[in-house]
Amino acid sequence: MRVLVTGGAGYIGSHTIVELVAKGHDVCIVDTFRNSSPEVLNRLEEITGVRPLLHKVDVRDRAGMKTVMESYKPEAVIHFAGLKAVGESAEIPLEYYDVNVQGTVVLLETMQAVGCKTVVFSSSATVYGAPQYLPYDEAHPCAPSNVYGQTKHMAEQILTDWQLANPDSSVVLLRYFNPVGAHSSGRMGEDPDGPPNNLMPFVAQVAVGRREKLAVFGDDYDTPDGTGVRDYIHVTDLARAHISALDYGVKQAGTDVFNIGTGTGYSVLDMIKAFSKASGREIAYEVAPRRVGDLASYYANPAKAGTVLGWSAERGIEDICTSTWKWQSDNPRGYGA
Ligand code: NAD
Ligand code: UD1
Repeated sequence: MRVLVTGGAGYIGSHTIVELVAKGHDVCIVDTFRNSSPEVLNRLEEITGVRPLLHKVDVRDRAGMKTVMESYKPEAVIHFAGLKAVGESAEIPLEYYDVNVQGTVVLLETMQAVGCKTVVFSSSATVYGAPQYLPYDEAHPCAPSNVYGQTKHMAEQILTDWQLANPDSSVVLLRYFNPVGAHSSGRMGEDPDGPPNNLMPFVAQVAVGRREKLAVFGDDYDTPDGTGVRDYIHVTDLARAHISALDYGVKQAGTDVFNIGTGTGYSVLDMIKAFSKASGREIAYEVAPRRVGDLASYYANPAKAGTVLGWSAERGIEDICTSTWKWQSDNPRGYGA
């Protein structure tokens, strides 16, 4: 199948392309490299033996997207392109609404113009907001508590309404929990610009000596060891979930939503310990105040993805830490090395 992958040079998009090519799909990337590096194309070619087509086009650029759609004529789209930093989303909310919401509108308009009817969308567990119960299932009410989460929730609604107006189309919404880990080759991984906001890339940079120590944001939560608990999902498992979602989406019309997580929560201290074991390095850390907006604990009920998509996570925290360490130690400066 011809699959257009917006944001395909990014962290999750690039790992998904590896799985797409392995399944025999033809891939075309739309990316501005706003938060990624063109070096990813070389790494993808190295791993898969295929250099994906690339259009350096902003998803908000209607004319540019129309040209891409008309020349590539995708049979399905996986829509990763977007902005994802919670803190930044409060500082530049209009930019987040523009890219994440308006970008989705333009994508759908230009897909429709060429009769492309299937889209898989990168949503986030952030759309649920504070847990009314755990684990979150897909029926949990959505009440996002930050701008980023609002943009993802709005995009979900737009996709759902578009599907209703186009009854033979198909929308699959994937709500990711905490994506971590790297490709087993060590050639691709997460390469944040500047100091990482998220736990695992920060831990990896401490291990490799790029940062002095990790600040553990709070040890007085109501969790087994007092630190925050999350559902960490290996990026290769997450990539596989997109293949399952695509197979499902092309077979039937409608909108469906799936949690993509493991169902198991680990604390910050669990992750530090596992990373230390995988890397053989001590991870220096100190306890710091809680980060504003953080929740104590959340994790997925991924049962629906199991029954409907036939997908479940196969990799645990050991694999997550080993692959992250291989990526970080082989590429201490990420793609910029
Ligand atoms: P990423 O930043 O690595 O990838 C996003 C890609 O989109 C980048 O290559 C970036 O250059 C590109 N991009 C940004 N704005 C664009 C625009 N206007 N036009 C074209 N390309 C543009 O992020 P990621 O971690 O791979 O996340 C992919 C998607 O998954 C995002 O939509 C994100 O919100 C969502 N998501 C990520 C996480 C996570 O923790 N990584 C969790 C839940 C959901
Ligand atoms: C954050 C976002 C969430 C987004 C997710 C993507 C917030 C409030 N939430 O989730 O919307 O979908 O990233 O992966 O930003 N931690 C530390 N020290 C650090 C970094 C993190 O102790 O330097 C702790 C956090 O307090 C948390 C855990 O590690 O308990 C995981 O944090 P992080 O990786 O940032 O993910 P989330 O906060 O779950």
